[in-house]
Amino acid sequence: MTAATKPPRPLIAGNWKMNGLLAALAEVRALAGRLARSGKTGADLLLCPPATLLHPMAQALSGSAIALGGQDCHAEPKGAHTGDIAAEMLADLGCRYVIVGHSERRQNHGETDAEVAAKATAAQRAGLTAIVCVGETRAEREAGRAEAVVTAQLLASLPAGCTDRNTVIAYEPVWAIGTGLTPTAADVAALHAAIRRVLGQRFGAAAGCMRLLYGGSVKAGNAAELLAVANVDGALVGGASLSATEFWPIVEARL
Ligand code: PGA
Repeated sequence: MTAATKPPRPLIAGNWKMNGLLAALAEVRALAGRLARSGKTGADLLLCPPATLLHPMAQALSGSAIALGGQDCHAEPKGAHTGDIAAEMLADLGCRYVIVGHSERRQNHGETDAEVAAKATAAQRAGLTAIVCVGETRAEREAGRAEAVVTAQLLASLPAGCTDRNTVIAYEPVWAIGTGLTPTAADVAALHAAIRRVLGQRFGAAAGCMRLLYGGSVKAGNAAELLAVANVDGALVGGASLSATEFWPIVEARL
């Protein structure tokens, strides 16, 4: 980011993963209520529920500043792909974002970098912002390869045409997801600086304002420290985003 570039507006995103029945919409209403009462507007807020909750959550969020996103999309706009969801379908429901390449999809569904890039292209085509996830495993970090692995994964997972408007990067060390473990602030700073650098080399000035999120065991107790790290423009929060009581202090740390 150059001195003339405006700092990115923070984004605090909740990834509900495969959690939440209709009753969980009470948490969303509670969160929207807290946001409205706070009167604060310093960050963008996003919830990515399972597909079954997208439509009712869109209704629950109507009139609120909290955006809606999907957790995955297919690369094609339609067709014979049983169980899959097109980016266009997400946009049709009012989604503005879609997570692509989450490590759980890379691990559990064998998604490759090329497939992730195709999904990010689909998101662009549908007018959505893709949140492209990257992160190293514990073995890769212990071998001193975290930065090399993450930057290579990132470059292979991003299609042409990425801008700060259609792309957000989420750095999520695989070993930190759902474990209660987090990297040190210095390690996060080093990775985010490396990500910013390779984005600049690939996309030029447009990368200066691309939002870089940290994800992996973000909680109320560590959010302020992690969100204050240089080049951390927000968080992707899993477990702690399921309850308004746990999510709100994380939101407030950057609001
Ligand atoms: P966690 O998940 O906050 O539960 O560690 C983060 C994520 O996977 O996005």
